[in-house]
Amino acid sequence: MKKHNFSAGPSVLPQEVLKKASEAVLNFNHSDLSLIEISHRSTDFVAVMEKAQSLALELLGLENKGYSVLFLQGGASLEFLMVPYNLLKVGGKAAYLDTGTWSSKSIKEANLFGTIDVVASSKDKNYSYIPKGYNIPSDIDYFHCTSNNTIFGTQLKSFPKTDSLLVCDMSSDIFSRQLDFSQFDLIYAGAQKNMGPAGTTLVVVKKSILGNTGRKIPSMLDYQVHISKDSMFNTPSVFAVYVSMLTLQWLKDLGGIAAIEKINNAKATLLYNEIDSNRLFEGVAANADRSYMNVTFTLTDDSYKDTFDRLWKEAGINGINGHRSVGGYRASIYNALPLESVEVLVAIMKKLANS
Ligand SMILES: Cc1ncc(COP(=O)(O)O)c(C=O)c1O
Repeated sequence: MKKHNFSAGPSVLPQEVLKKASEAVLNFNHSDLSLIEISHRSTDFVAVMEKAQSLALELLGLENKGYSVLFLQGGASLEFLMVPYNLLKVGGKAAYLDTGTWSSKSIKEANLFGTIDVVASSKDKNYSYIPKGYNIPSDIDYFHCTSNNTIFGTQLKSFPKTDSLLVCDMSSDIFSRQLDFSQFDLIYAGAQKNMGPAGTTLVVVKKSILGNTGRKIPSMLDYQVHISKDSMFNTPSVFAVYVSMLTLQWLKDLGGIAAIEKINNAKATLLYNEIDSNRLFEGVAANADRSYMNVTFTLTDDSYKDTFDRLWKEAGINGINGHRSVGGYRASIYNALPLESVEVLVAIMKKLANS
């Protein structure tokens, strides 16, 4: 029996994707060879890379708009430094919005490259809300934000207008909701939430913004090098790219981001309604900023903890313990998590209240 997997990442993937991936590990494209024992430069794998890139652009509505798609390694964490390396001019300045652990890690890395103006932070309330009404200076090379704060369960519902470049870490909500993705000049996301296994990072970057910093960039950290080699400058993470391609194809077949957004809204609404109506639970994040991917909540009465923990474990639920910096619970309800899993969790929350 498959568990109800609410893990924050690596996280649930569609069953049919896991099945196809396991088949390809044994025998890829009827070649009698495994996907992970053939050359990344073979015709079959080059086709996988090209398909993954074109699906990403298609799903985001960014075809023919000057964007390149890269599948890199090093996780989203490496992008924390590749972004300033490639976009922050020598002696330049960038602005960052600090909405959580991952934002603050990106700020720490960017500080190594130039002047970083943190325009606003929600650290004062343990990142339980998204700051608003801040000013973005005009003399910056780019503005960086994190669209969804995986640990704290907050999400940016809209993005600031700025004349400078807009860069976004979308690791935990990419492909989950309809946005005008062309407002961003660079988007990055570790694969291991909504796209595939850990091991590859999606970078979608407008080619025209690169090459203007005046600094020398080591080849492996230079987006232009990776673009010129079609993400094959060195050996890509073939398995992670393949599974990402399968997941993007699954999403396309489902009806794309518009279709998954409806399902995601239904899952989030069901769970938040229960949190708000059940006397034993309360949400952690400010209502207006609640994430539709990571739902953080606590018990109002800790004496119910042992019973609640026993009930969800018995129901086959996995991965809802909160992050250590928040406590309580976190249900990650990414694209591939079925509505049925949320229904099971909600039924247990009701059962607890009636116990
Ligand atoms: C929003 C966000 N950014 C960055 C990261 C770091 O990603 P990685 O582990 O791929 O470096 C994570 C990991 O959970 C994340 O949720």
